Amino acid sequence: MNEPINRRRFMAGAGAGVITASSYSRILGANDRIQLGIIGSGGRGQSLMNSFRKYPDICEFIAVCDVYEPNIRDALRFSRENAKTTMAYRELLANKDVVAIVNATPDHWHANVLLDSVAAGKDVYSEKPFSLSIEQGARMVKGVRATKQVVQVGMQRRSSEAVRSAKKLIDDGVLGEIVLARAQWYWNSKAVPAKMTLDGKLDWEQFQGPAKKHYPLDERRFFHWRTYSDYNGGHLTDQGTHLMDVIQWFGNDGKPPRSAVCQGQIHLNKNGDVPDTFSAVYEYPTFLATWTLTYSNSYEESWKIHIQGRKATMVIDDDGYRVYPEIWKRPIIPPPVIHEYKGGIPTEPHIKNFLDCIKSRQEPNAPVEVGHNAVTGPHLANMAYRQMRRVVLSEDGQTAKIG
Ligand SMILES: NC(=O)c1ccc[n+]([C@@H]2O[C@H](COP(=O)([O-])OP(=O)(O)OC[C@H]3O[C@@H](n4cnc5c(N)ncnc54)[C@H](O)[C@@H]3O)[C@@H](O)[C@H]2O)c1
Repeated sequence: MNEPINRRRFMAGAGAGVITASSYSRILGANDRIQLGIIGSGGRGQSLMNSFRKYPDICEFIAVCDVYEPNIRDALRFSRENAKTTMAYRELLANKDVVAIVNATPDHWHANVLLDSVAAGKDVYSEKPFSLSIEQGARMVKGVRATKQVVQVGMQRRSSEAVRSAKKLIDDGVLGEIVLARAQWYWNSKAVPAKMTLDGKLDWEQFQGPAKKHYPLDERRFFHWRTYSDYNGGHLTDQGTHLMDVIQWFGNDGKPPRSAVCQGQIHLNKNGDVPDTFSAVYEYPTFLATWTLTYSNSYEESWKIHIQGRKATMVIDDDGYRVYPEIWKRPIIPPPVIHEYKGGIPTEPHIKNFLDCIKSRQEPNAPVEVGHNAVTGPHLANMAYRQMRRVVLSEDGQTAKIG
């Protein structure tokens, strides 16, 4: 039988930054489950809870926090019976039995929830995009690194077999020198309805929290916060962080671009202030990249990345990847595929990697630096769109200016 569990003692150790794999496993016996708490149990939060449930021998949710009661009620389907519930996340963080947090709040809350969680001695699975700005992201990296907590950013491509094996091909030189990478995302979405109603109690002030400007209750802002720059960097960062990460992981050692320009328009949600059709161009040291999205047309539906090298082109998407050799000739009959992987991007391997790292105290697949670098390019593009100018990243990668 394992040693008796004394998480209070463990968490005191965690706060002092002295967690090791052996001290962890002594305290969390081999047959014991990692006790999780979720903050922000909306759409993504519940989907993640369902995915964590695929590892019932390793973990369980014992606490749920959301500022919207219906989302607490619905999330209880995925938690242990009698899980603790609250609308105030610091109350959840004070629960010493909770070892790790899932942070699936809207983006304007990511920094506070993440930093408060690690300060409370919790490990964190923190959803993307990592931050609201380059400067905030740099502060978040420092804050997390001042602790010994394990933090996995919710960028599941980093743990996907499809993407990892695609990277290996690129490292092996199959594409030759990369000259151009093109990321795209196309959906035909419905506009936000003119009127929306709540289905239960909402703590609107606690939703707005760190947002710079507070408004009287507005249900559309609550349900469709992605449409407003008060709460996020819009679709540029929301989807861009996933795709730019793959491009720069493959072609630039995971480092962000030097500069960006971007044009955008609002076609769908004119009540909001973020472009829902845009194209950004990024300058990496040895290649160019583009990032194009519209939510008003679904040609080639969903996401896709083309990576064009001097020897071959890789197309990567939800079906896996295909590699076509050079050269293409008109009339276009694609040359036979020379490498292929069939399979999508499940979230479970990323979750399993997080759970393994909680026990081993190893670095997870998407640590904070990856999350920060992945959204730096989309932040540059947002600045370029708003200022209608080229924006350049500083040498230390912590600020940006018009240039
Ligand atoms: N990795 C992925 O593929 C992926 C997919 C979807 C969403 N996400 C990310 O997950 C996050 C949530 O997105 P979503 O689509 O679930 O949004 P959502 O609006 O459905 O859920 C967010 C939830 O957070 C709650 N919330 C807001 N402020 C809170 C606070 N202070 N304390 C506790 N709860 C609070 C809201 O009430 C809501 O239930 C976003 O950052 C998004 O980018 C990631």
